[in-house]
Amino acid sequence: MLRIAHLSDVHILDPHTRRSAARYRITARAVSMGRSVDPRERARKLSRGLAAAKASGAGHVVISGDLTELGDANEFEHFATLLDEARLPDGSVTLVPGNHDAYTSADGWKKAMAGPLKRWSSASAFLTGQVVERGDVVLMPIDTSCFQSIARSGGHLTSDAVDAVHSRLRDPAFTDKSIILVFHHPPFVTERNAVWQWIDGLRGYAHAVDLLGKHPRLQILHGHLHKVVDSIVRLGKGALARVEDVARLSPRDAGRETARARIFGAPAVVDDGERPRVRLYDVRDGALESAGFYAT
Ligand SMILES: [Fe+2]
Repeated sequence: MLRIAHLSDVHILDPHTRRSAARYRITARAVSMGRSVDPRERARKLSRGLAAAKASGAGHVVISGDLTELGDANEFEHFATLLDEARLPDGSVTLVPGNHDAYTSADGWKKAMAGPLKRWSSASAFLTGQVVERGDVVLMPIDTSCFQSIARSGGHLTSDAVDAVHSRLRDPAFTDKSIILVFHHPPFVTERNAVWQWIDGLRGYAHAVDLLGKHPRLQILHGHLHKVVDSIVRLGKGALARVEDVARLSPRDAGRETARARIFGAPAVVDDGERPRVRLYDVRDGALESAGFYAT
């Protein structure tokens, strides 16, 4: 049985922050929103999170974006060094970028994938339509990041990415497999406020909801919210799909529905104390099921 470990929102800093340019320091502090900006503390949390993932017995690790604070080249290099030090097997880690990974440049993620993170690129969001076959499930990492001002924190599920998912779902090689999309932003509206959704939401999320409604073997892993979220997909009138947060269901319904959750959000490593929790899933009957948490 395959076990998957899910970490998210690591927000690694340039380890030479004290010596680095004033502009970097000011911007990193601004987007850190009151968190400590000690690069060693963040590095320690990532290392401990990766150690927990390894000790949990997981056969695959997913890190769902905001790997770095600003998408700076030094940050990516530091992240890659920490990941290499964890000594996880080649091909066993799936990385996707978050909004923070695209604050410095439009091509910072691609350069990191082709550079310090190259070892992990074949299982990560590098080429559109890329898949990672892991027994009964197929992971599909998707880049939803976009180069934008630090005043925004949104993402974009592009039509190219949606087309790639459609073609994988039609692929006879994957007919009997569950497909797990991995991207940073949650595929639903998080606030009943159109302005905030424009600032922080996932453009094109409705395509993901539509896919979930049409394909019961599709599931999604995400980050961005810095909290644990389980969501179910219900079909309404005219087979229109809608997403519901399990936490907002009645206690009786929630008990029943958790097992059927199809969208899973992980806690943020950066916010999770000195012993970050890893979220675990077991693949049962060809689908992911939440299997609790693990910390060292
Ligand atoms: Fe984040």
